[in-house]
Amino acid sequence: MTDQILHAIESGLLNANDISFDKLRAISGRDSGVWKELGRGRSILRSTEQLDQYLYSYGPMTRNQWHEVLAPLSFNPEPVQVVDYGCGQGLATALLIDRFGKDLIRSLRKVILVEPSQVALTRAAAIVSCYANHIDVITLEKRLEALEPSELKASTGVLSIHLFSNVLDIEGYDHFGLLAKIFQSKGRHFIMAVSHDRDFDGGSTRFRDLEEAVSRPEYQSWFSVQYSSIRQFSCNGGQSAIAWLLEVEVLNGSL
Ligand SMILES: C[S@@+](CC[C@H](N)C(=O)[O-])C[C@H]1O[C@@H](n2cnc3c(N)ncnc32)[C@H](O)[C@@H]1O
Repeated sequence: MTDQILHAIESGLLNANDISFDKLRAISGRDSGVWKELGRGRSILRSTEQLDQYLYSYGPMTRNQWHEVLAPLSFNPEPVQVVDYGCGQGLATALLIDRFGKDLIRSLRKVILVEPSQVALTRAAAIVSCYANHIDVITLEKRLEALEPSELKASTGVLSIHLFSNVLDIEGYDHFGLLAKIFQSKGRHFIMAVSHDRDFDGGSTRFRDLEEAVSRPEYQSWFSVQYSSIRQFSCNGGQSAIAWLLEVEVLNGSL
């Protein structure tokens, strides 16, 4: 089946001056009858129908979560790299760019998309390149546990923004190990994570465990925490959510 988003990008219907999360959802979000295949939103998706169903069923929650997280933040233009972990079809990066607009687009140097689903990754890369066709979009078709620290490295003086959109809560990968890989790269890092607030099959305890770990005194010579805050809230749609914002300067990474 044709991917309507790829088609809209190829035809110019979606372009750098006319693209947004809402437009993406209007084009492709539809009930394609495969909701059960999404595994509560956590399955690795295999088809365009599943991507469309995800956008239809979980798009509003994702948009509401990121609206709550991003609304109070400001962005002072400076060179940035974005890493979107388990990016799916790239909704979190799209919402980040929607929020900060041209200031962010002009500042973007690179976007790294990590996702084991090939069909999702292809759509995500097309969406990000459509927003900002001057930047490097790196696709890593792999699971988070297979990431190498060097794949996450930003150039000197570039702020790394790390997005975890409904991913940090998923059990099955070592979240401590992933953070340790991120913190191999010297420089400034801003981690933004949001998920449905739940306490089973992984869930919010993974947020709290990481938050507690980064503040341990034994890590002070490795990295310095400038800001760390966990917030639990209800989205517009009524779903409970948890978000973690962490700003860190890595002083003694190996990269
Ligand atoms: C709930 S979806 C969120 C997708 C996307 N971040 C968003 O907000 O639209 C979870 C995503 O994590 C991916 N995923 C699941 N386990 C993973 C793993 N071990 N490594 C990398 N990605 C994984 C799935 O393929 C899926 O795209």
